[in-house]
Order: sequence, then C-alpha cells, then structure tokens
Amino acid sequence: MEVSGKVVVVTGGGNGIGAALARRFAAEGAAAVVVADLDTRAAGRVAAEVGGLAIETDVSTESDVVRLIETTQDRYGPIDLFCANAGIAFAGSEQSPDEDWDRMWRVNFFSHVYATRHLLPAWLSRGSGYFLATASAAGLLTNIGAAQYTVTKHAVVAFAEWLAITHGDAGIRVSCLCPQGVETRMLEESGPVANLLRATALTPEQVASVVVDGLARESFLILPHPEVGEYLANKVADPDRWLAGMRRLQQKINEATKMEE
Ligand SMILES: NC(=O)c1ccc[n+]([C@@H]2O[C@H](COP(=O)([O-])OP(=O)(O)OC[C@H]3O[C@@H](n4cnc5c(N)ncnc54)[C@H](O)[C@@H]3O)[C@@H](O)[C@H]2O)c1
Repeated sequence: MEVSGKVVVVTGGGNGIGAALARRFAAEGAAAVVVADLDTRAAGRVAAEVGGLAIETDVSTESDVVRLIETTQDRYGPIDLFCANAGIAFAGSEQSPDEDWDRMWRVNFFSHVYATRHLLPAWLSRGSGYFLATASAAGLLTNIGAAQYTVTKHAVVAFAEWLAITHGDAGIRVSCLCPQGVETRMLEESGPVANLLRATALTPEQVASVVVDGLARESFLILPHPEVGEYLANKVADPDRWLAGMRRLQQKINEATKMEE
C-alpha cells in the first residue's frame, strides 16, 4: 500500500516511533494523519507539525478507541491504515503482581483487539483496510528481564498472524513491526538491556522509512533490524541452542548489573 492519499491513524503518535511514523506518512502525502496519544501535549505538537488531528486516547480503554475511530471517520471518511503502535515497557518476572500483568496486557495487547473489533466490520464491507501492529523483536525472541513485555508482544505477533490468515482473502492487510532497539524514551527507560540494545539502535526516522517500504511491499513482518530474522531462524532451527545462547546473555547482563551496583 502506498500511503499517499490515505487516511491514517497512529496510536502513541505523540513520541518516539509513532511520531516518526506520523511525520513520514504526512511527508508521503497521506490525506489525513490522526495522532492518538495519552500524552495530549505531545500529540498536539506532532499533529500541528503534520497538519493533522490530535485525539486524546487511552488505547487500553475500549470506549476511547471507539471514539478515536468514529471521530476520524466523521472528519475524514474511512480509515485506510490504522497503526496500533502505543505500548509500554517495564521490568518484571513471574513475581510481579497481577496489576502489572493486567496493565501490560491492556495497553500492549487488548488495544489491538479493541481497534480491530471496531475497524473490521467497515473494512470487511469495503474489502480493504490495513492494520499495522507494532510488536517488537521481543515478540519473536525474548526481552531479558521483562516477562510481561515479552509475553504481550508475543501475543501481538500471534494476533496479527491470526488476523492476516483469517481476513487476508477478504482484502485486509496486516503487518507486524518488530524492531530491536530504537532511540526513544522507552529505550532510555529499559534498564540494563538498553546498554546492549543501544549499540545497534536505530533512529525512529530510520524505522519509519523501513515501515513505508514494508507497507509498499505489504510484507507481514517488518524488521528494521534484519538480524532479527536471522535470530528467529536460529531459534526455530535449534531452540535448545538458542536458549543456551540467551542464558549466556542473561548472565552477562546480571554481571554488568552487579558491577553497576
Ligand atoms: N524503543 C524501542 O527500542 C522499541 C523496540 C521495539 C518495539 N518498540 C515498540 O514501539 C512502540 C512505540 O514505542 P516507543 O519506543 O516509540 O516509545 P515512546 O515511549 O517513545 O512512545 C510511546 C508513546 O505511546 C504513548 N502511550 C503509552 N501508553 C498509552 C496508552 N495507554 N494510550 C495511548 N498512548 C499511550 C506514550 O504517551 C508515548 O507517546 C511500542 O509499542 C514499543 O513497545 C519500541
């Protein structure tokens, strides 16, 4: 899909990857760019830059997502591309309280269910619509030290695959963006893993450029870091070897953390 002339919504569009996507889509000639974010000031700034509309949205609340979709449609007509990009990350393990698991599920995963629940009826009757899910390399591999993030991002990938299989023949397109480190606030707040990811981190603008290419090709997996594809192939080819390698990485991070303390 070429973005030119399209009505586009970007959640989490106030900062980081979402802001870069909004700017790039506008530069590509999108007919309208709607910037949805909890952070209304940031969303307003980006919307003003791209001549778009900012809509305060908490993607973890279904009624907010419905309002986002309806407001966009009322103002600009049918939505062509919906980017479910908003997400949160924090450290956690099996010991984390249910509230942490619940919050991560709602923001990172149920937001995608809510969006597609209310986009698909119109898209299926039109026979077109494009859903871009921002997952993460953590959704294909793992994120050391962040159980909730890893599990919810795996769910994002699984749901995106399911959507592509179920609705692909009805004209619905789905892509799943799985970057490794990207230079945003999220990376800055990612603790010890950030030090490892920083070495190969991309700018949000570089990611946006890979996304535009991926959308043009209508590729399901959009991998701004091509090495993630190799890691995934290695994992599938020999899971025990992959796990052993990841344990070595975990050990390295544990040692680095101890030295910092
Ligand atoms: N930065 C990375 O290294 C990296 C790597 C892989 C995947 N990702 C994914 O990319 C996406 C964007 O992350 P980013 O790095 O740009 O982070 P960021 O923190 O810079 O931006 C995230 C944006 O989402 C918004 N947001 C958070 N919760 C929200 C909610 N409930 N409703 C609406 N908006 C909400 C924030 O206000 C913020 O503007 C996330 O889904 C993240 O998991 C990031």
